[in-house]
Amino acid sequence: MKFTGNHRLSALVFLAFLLPTGLSAKGSNVDKPGERKIFIDSLMSKMTLDEKLGQLNLLAWDGSLQTGAAANSGVSEKVKDGLVGGLFNIESKDVRMQVQQLAVEQSRLGIPIIFAQDVIHGHRTVFPIPLGLSCSWDPELIKQTARAAAVEASRDGIDWVFSPMVDVSRDPRWGRVAEGAGEDPYLGSLIAKAMVVGYQGDDMAKPDAVMACVKHFALYGAAESGRDYNTVDMSEIKIFQDYLPPYQAAVDAGVGSVMTSFNDINGVPATSNKWLIDDVLRKDWGFSGFIATDYTAIREMGAHGLGDLESCSALALDAGIDMDMVSEGFVNTLKTSLASGAVTMAEINLACRRVLEAKYKLGLFVDPFLRLKEADGNSLQNKRFMDLALDAARKSAVLLKNENQTLPLKEGQKIAVVGPLADSKKDAMGTWVLNGDETRVTTVLEGLRKRSVVSYAKGAKLTDDGAMANLIGYSMDEQSNDELIAEALEVAQSADVVVAVLGESAAMNGEAASMADISLQASQKRLLHKLVETGKPVVLVLVTGRPVTLEWENENCAAILQCWSAGSQTGNAVADILYGDYNPSGKLTMSFPRKVGQVPVYYSMKTTGRPFWDGVKYTSRYLDVANSPLYPFGYGLSYTSFTMNDIQLNKTTFSENDTLTATVSLTNTGGMAGEETVQLYVRDLVATITRPQKELKHFQKVYLKPGETKTIGFKITIDDLKFYNSALKYQAEPGEFRLEIGFNSRDIKAINFTLE
Ligand code: BGC
Repeated sequence: MKFTGNHRLSALVFLAFLLPTGLSAKGSNVDKPGERKIFIDSLMSKMTLDEKLGQLNLLAWDGSLQTGAAANSGVSEKVKDGLVGGLFNIESKDVRMQVQQLAVEQSRLGIPIIFAQDVIHGHRTVFPIPLGLSCSWDPELIKQTARAAAVEASRDGIDWVFSPMVDVSRDPRWGRVAEGAGEDPYLGSLIAKAMVVGYQGDDMAKPDAVMACVKHFALYGAAESGRDYNTVDMSEIKIFQDYLPPYQAAVDAGVGSVMTSFNDINGVPATSNKWLIDDVLRKDWGFSGFIATDYTAIREMGAHGLGDLESCSALALDAGIDMDMVSEGFVNTLKTSLASGAVTMAEINLACRRVLEAKYKLGLFVDPFLRLKEADGNSLQNKRFMDLALDAARKSAVLLKNENQTLPLKEGQKIAVVGPLADSKKDAMGTWVLNGDETRVTTVLEGLRKRSVVSYAKGAKLTDDGAMANLIGYSMDEQSNDELIAEALEVAQSADVVVAVLGESAAMNGEAASMADISLQASQKRLLHKLVETGKPVVLVLVTGRPVTLEWENENCAAILQCWSAGSQTGNAVADILYGDYNPSGKLTMSFPRKVGQVPVYYSMKTTGRPFWDGVKYTSRYLDVANSPLYPFGYGLSYTSFTMNDIQLNKTTFSENDTLTATVSLTNTGGMAGEETVQLYVRDLVATITRPQKELKHFQKVYLKPGETKTIGFKITIDDLKFYNSALKYQAEPGEFRLEIGFNSRDIKAINFTLE
């Protein structure tokens, strides 16, 4: 049976052939488990062992970005032979169309391919990198960005996106912090859910929905030394309390698939970790979708020291992996393992069933060309998404310093723009942008030029480090450092304010971009020192994918705006903020260390038995630097000022089925309308195990006009006080708690209450 001619018709013929009853057509195809089972039973009864193993085979397109030790080749032939279940990172829709035709018209059973892609922060329209987006503290906005990405990606024939990445991380040396939502599990969970719902919508069979894939399961963000792919060794309490919640939130939100991580966990690679995959994910959390490995992760189990490809493939299948990304271990070795008894036919059948179920849920058995035949977006839609990108970029930027109201810039001021990132579209888009439309990008220089006449000089090489330049694909400038700086000083001298756009190129964060030194590159620091020496006020605009160390910059720059790689609308958003058309409201979701030696430094650290005491040596401290970060979690300034009165509680003692209400009044005491994020933290003062200094439990964003006051309330229930105890039981313990409310995790008001 083959698909021929009219795709839609052939899909229905296919369906009638396999199904006695037929299925409802596109549009009314809300998944019905009963019908799905009949369909898949019928299909699987016709499949050979090789065809079943083919469904477990997830391949990268020939010649696509190779991030692991192996690449795939001869993919088209394998598709015809029914030996491929899914494909990712194909460069164009046309190629996807041709491959799907091969699969449905030339393979024996015509089972459609599921097309995946790393759609991480937008597709054609690029939104800020996920770490930046998280600084909006706005899950609804983030959901809309995922929805927009789903619409654009599905119109390109993509069914499945390798997102959201929800790895909690407290180590800015790790380049992949750019892809996640920062250090906090509570905020991370809200964002995980928002993204899953945004991508998948209410019915994955709709042509504009895509299946999400939560990754990297699990604990990838805790890689030792912040070095990518590195070991994770962690207590179970910490695993459950701090690292697993966002993955679980994605599962609770109905995520269709999960990708395992590269790292090992307490001695077992995540990809063959039966405890993690089977006990936690499937049994405890009830996850019923399918699980794929990361790129060549089964093959890499060999380097982890777990054996050859055959035994690693058997271990991975046995642990509960359904799809093998790039390694081709399942397709090439499971037959032998079946014969030797290392795996069972039931395990292979189950994995195959789960992959087919995903295709069914995506509507691919009703129409394999469902997403491929969608027309490209129209200009109205593009405008809507670009407006969203502007909103997202403005809300993601965090104002870290603003001395003497240097910002907003005043009309008529002469502006000099300098820096190697001021005019780079690629770096404005940031890491993991496979299909971003560069023509839509406005750089900071372009954005500011729309407002006033500005002078510009590049001023510095991105880096002086030749070895790094090779790794990140940066071609060294022909001009010398001295020449570049001389040009910058010339434009700076004749300006009133200097805007220095410095930081990281897209390749300096994201995957395989760990840094042992997270300060600005020496070439850029030299430039900044020279600019400051001119005596002109210097506004530092940071384009980075991670927290950087900024002690000197904080001392010496008049203003600092962290705008991250902010996507298509970078330049317009930065110009809106610098000129005061948008009042910055972003709040950090990762602490910014003073020195890299403090890492990990995060707001929810424990106190130790010898808490820091200023001036006292034998306390838990450094001799050479304060314990606190330079900018704490939750921090971010505004052009206006807000005050908050003391916290009012409706009672100071409450019990299990009760609710405690905490109220604060907030006033905008400055001269500009603005938005503040009111954050509520709780500390368990006495417990059976040591507990964090504070944990974020709630927050609200409040918009206030100048002089306006609003009263806001938070409801606290016993659920906010629960934690995993030493028996890994999730429960609250009666006793005293401290409730804190503030505009960041450091500057807070506090009140105690008791749980009976
Ligand atoms: C990354 C994943 C990504 C995959 C496919 C891997 O190297 O770790 O995040 O989804 O490649 O491109």
